[in-house]
Amino acid sequence: MEQNILVLNGPNLNMLGIREPDVYGALSLEMIEQKLEKLADELQCGLTFFQSNHEGEIIDQIQQAYGKVNGILINPGAFTHYSYAIRDAISAVQIPTIEIHLSNIHKRESFRHHSVIAAVAIGQIAGFGANSYTIGLRALVENLNEG
Ligand code: DQA
Repeated sequence: MEQNILVLNGPNLNMLGIREPDVYGALSLEMIEQKLEKLADELQCGLTFFQSNHEGEIIDQIQQAYGKVNGILINPGAFTHYSYAIRDAISAVQIPTIEIHLSNIHKRESFRHHSVIAAVAIGQIAGFGANSYTIGLRALVENLNEG
């Protein structure tokens, strides 16, 4: 069965390529999305991309995914660390979700060490730069196919 995956990116991830390239790498979000499209051909899954700087818009996307999407790949950006509302939305729709970070949040400032999303995700992938997304997509599709 072809898995239908929603790829969500939170605040400031539209600035990738410009934003602290030593931390987040040189690729723009568009370039990362192109890498994912290539991988999706191999994995034979469908992708929908959405980025927003607004918490409510991300929640709307998660709610609208209910009944339509098989899995969610999300980099919640800074919302990772404090958005109980995004966590509750993922929990409400019960769509298998993988949390992605470009940087290894566990070796950065202490406020980044805790994720309020992790407890409602299948797992978290952090620290592999743009490859966190491709590793995450593979892991998600494998998990769904096994499901
Ligand atoms: C991030 C890590 C977050 O702490 C930060 O606020 C981001 C990006 C990452 O991909 O490494 O915006 O999610």
